[in-house]
Amino acid sequence: ARAQIGVTGLAVMGSNIARNFARHGHTVALHNRSVAKTDALIAEHGDEGDFVRTESVDEFVAALQRPRRVLIMVKAGDATDAVIEELAAAMEPGDIIIDGGNALYTDTIRREASLRERGLHFVGAGISGGEEGALNGPSIMPGGPKESYESLGPLLESVAAVVDGVPCCTHIGPDGAGHFVKMVHNGIEYADMQLIGEAYHLFRDALGYDAAQIAAVFGEWNTGDLESYLIEITAEVLSQVDANTGQPLVDVIVDAAEQKGTGRWTVKSALDLGVPVTGIAEAVFARALSGSRAQRQAAKGLASGVLGDKPTDAAQFTEDIRQALYASKIVAYAQGFDQIRAGSVEYDWDLTPGDMATIWRGGCIIRARFLNRIKEAYDNNPELTSLIVEPYFKDAIETAIDSWRRVVVTATQLGIPVPAFASSLSYYDGLRAERLPAALTQGQRDFFGAHTYERTDRPGKFHTLWSGDRSEVEA
Ligand code: 6PG
Repeated sequence: ARAQIGVTGLAVMGSNIARNFARHGHTVALHNRSVAKTDALIAEHGDEGDFVRTESVDEFVAALQRPRRVLIMVKAGDATDAVIEELAAAMEPGDIIIDGGNALYTDTIRREASLRERGLHFVGAGISGGEEGALNGPSIMPGGPKESYESLGPLLESVAAVVDGVPCCTHIGPDGAGHFVKMVHNGIEYADMQLIGEAYHLFRDALGYDAAQIAAVFGEWNTGDLESYLIEITAEVLSQVDANTGQPLVDVIVDAAEQKGTGRWTVKSALDLGVPVTGIAEAVFARALSGSRAQRQAAKGLASGVLGDKPTDAAQFTEDIRQALYASKIVAYAQGFDQIRAGSVEYDWDLTPGDMATIWRGGCIIRARFLNRIKEAYDNNPELTSLIVEPYFKDAIETAIDSWRRVVVTATQLGIPVPAFASSLSYYDGLRAERLPAALTQGQRDFFGAHTYERTDRPGKFHTLWSGDRSEVEA
């Protein structure tokens, strides 16, 4: 046996990561349900490194050095379970199975527990960066037993993206921690994309810019604080001209956003954890709204009630949108990091949020200059309560606040939906409020259900005898 790693599931992501390992000098055993994909990879890229072609699972497993390390790159869900079962049957105690798909973290917890009983190590690893990242350096978020990272870490780190000499890969935490963190990464990805979408919408409908003009603005923004992969590709997508019609491609793409599920999972988990991830939730719902074709059809032509005029100072409004985007993005990350901390407590993972900021600086879809700032924030204060109170971000929001409000007001007056900008601003206003209306909510709950409330002036739980003499009793 001579292969240091095996990759099974050779669709684009699997093939690219296998090539990435080979390009870094590792001998890679290849396996795929249909051998045609394996042969195609070897025919096209066999000269990039040392590949071992295998046809059966037994042959695949036999090709690997011990402890055997197999990376599974198949569709999340039942397909993953089937492959794990086949591999586990052929492997021996101490061997490591790595799931590099977008698995639901609770599945990863279940799989890790059952493989541990059989003496195998199971590592649920979030891998971000799309096809290009898989080939040239993704951000990798491996969970699972710490000891398996000793043998696996150097291998994964060798193929990950590198920023300032630091690989974008580190051991995240036990069992499902890696996939949990990848899930939250994707939630933030959704929020970031939605915010960019809202900015685009404002340029289009409030300033009347065409796609090429908007592309130029995003191109410009990508040289400043907002510099990020998503802003960069936004400029590219907006510049693309459709060969058939000669129109900007974005104008001929159907405006119904799809989703494979990771954003939805993030919100479901946040609901269970009680963490307000409003930006991510709005992003998931905005995709759902865009896809509600029957409702959108029925609502066409409803009253707009537009108040006020379009902005006349385009340069000022452009800067306002940039600030609103930056501030809302801070909120989205603050919320995502809150969820990571809450998940860590709930599952006893002992996660280090600063690690995420470090390994998301390169390779992944949400990579951004801004992540350096988040890393610095956690370096300065590993116990940070919320990103929005950290001096750098606090200042950034203070600088942005007038613009942020103007954007939400203008969008509202013009009837342009900005759910993520607006809810992020409300989240900020909610957190900084002296008194929230939750006091009234508590009073109402006590009224109809004797659910009790706490008082501002003394400890304890209290109930007012609403249907009696309305005196207060200690509960
Ligand atoms: C990544 C991406 C990747 C995938 C998304 C797409 O980090 O590389 O997040 O995992 O492209 O899951 O998600 P949707 O299909 O739900 O938009």
